[in-house]
Amino acid sequence: MADDPEEGMLSWDESVFRDEHVFEIDYVPETFQHREGQMRNLTYALRPAVRGSRPLNVVVRGPPGTGKTTSIQKLFDEVGAQTSDVRTIRVNCQVNATRYSVFSRLFEGTFDYEPPSSGISFKKLFSQIAEKLVEDDRVLVVALDDVNYLFYENEASDTLYSLLRAHEEHPGAKIGVIVVSSDPSLDVIDELDSRVQSVFRPEDVYFPVYDQPEIVDILDERVRRGFHDGVIGRETLEYVAELTADSGDLRVGIDLLRRAGLNAEMRASRSVERQDVEESYEQSKYINLSRSLSGLTDTEQVLLEVIAHHDGEQAGEVYEAFREQTDLGYTRYSEIVNKLDQLGLIDAEYAEVDGRGRSRSLSLSYEKDAVLDRLE
Ligand SMILES: Nc1ncnc2c1ncn2[C@@H]1O[C@H](COP(=O)(O)OP(=O)(O)OP(=O)(O)O)[C@@H](O)[C@H]1O
Ligand SMILES: [Mg+2]
Repeated sequence: MADDPEEGMLSWDESVFRDEHVFEIDYVPETFQHREGQMRNLTYALRPAVRGSRPLNVVVRGPPGTGKTTSIQKLFDEVGAQTSDVRTIRVNCQVNATRYSVFSRLFEGTFDYEPPSSGISFKKLFSQIAEKLVEDDRVLVVALDDVNYLFYENEASDTLYSLLRAHEEHPGAKIGVIVVSSDPSLDVIDELDSRVQSVFRPEDVYFPVYDQPEIVDILDERVRRGFHDGVIGRETLEYVAELTADSGDLRVGIDLLRRAGLNAEMRASRSVERQDVEESYEQSKYINLSRSLSGLTDTEQVLLEVIAHHDGEQAGEVYEAFREQTDLGYTRYSEIVNKLDQLGLIDAEYAEVDGRGRSRSLSLSYEKDAVLDRLE
């Protein structure tokens, strides 16, 4: 019925989505293309664990949204399917940014219940985990995901030191560590204390950004699972991939597909068009910003807001404004400035100030409104 005015229009109970869930942030994809080399190297490093020996340690590096966390999840699933003699635990260091809190998660992964909240000493927490490992004759593989957050809080060396020397205090304890960093400017090994460097000689596995043809392949797979047939044309998909390649973060593309789908539905259209993608990109391009903001503490958010209102000013002036809202000292203030800088939320640049020597000027890395809108 070519002249049916309703054709191409969605009715209430219809959707462009076959399975909207595949566009959600925690969805683990069934197929994992273009990471064969990295998966092979990771498997190689873990192979000794499956045989009951200590695995090789690994440093995994690469920009955001390049498949690092997904590869760890896949790998750990594979190990779990092979043997129950290896315990694998992934700790999200964005949320657990101290040694104590990392080990609380390891405790939880070992005993399946949380450590007593009344406060038990680190030493005790550690011994209980190590003793249980030895008792069960299991190898433990720990992935410190987003380890850069441990560095921002100055907790990385202590955490790694404890993990790497566990066997000295607890003979028979076999622990391997996979350290995952998404901060390209962080030199993981270089930033560790020398006492850690002397025992940490990890394999290096790098995750480069996906190029546009790779993004098309990966997103095409999502499209086939997530949308009904024919909902999105090749050209539109290529446009999505082009925008995704600009940011290098695959999350932008996945979020863009979902939002564009919702946008099409809002127009009651059966197909996702370029215009849906264009309109959605205004939100999707900030997905990395939203993710960074969600990991900030209240104080860090307050400082970022102050900087937004004093964009480009000197660190000393910004501190005056910040102090009206908190009672933190200058040292702690400087630490937070460093963290926001390392996270790529602000640029802190040294500049000569007349007669006063060198001082840092603080400016936002993103548009002011984009930041303020997302801080509420
Ligand atoms: N090769 C791939 N095939 C299918 N989906 C992928 C692939 N690589 C990444 N993804 C998807 O992209 C998103 C981001 O991947 P992931 O979380 O693994 O990135 P990451 O490198 O850990 O990023 P970050 O450094 O920000 O933590 C996830 O939704 C994941 O499912
Ligand atoms: Mg990750």
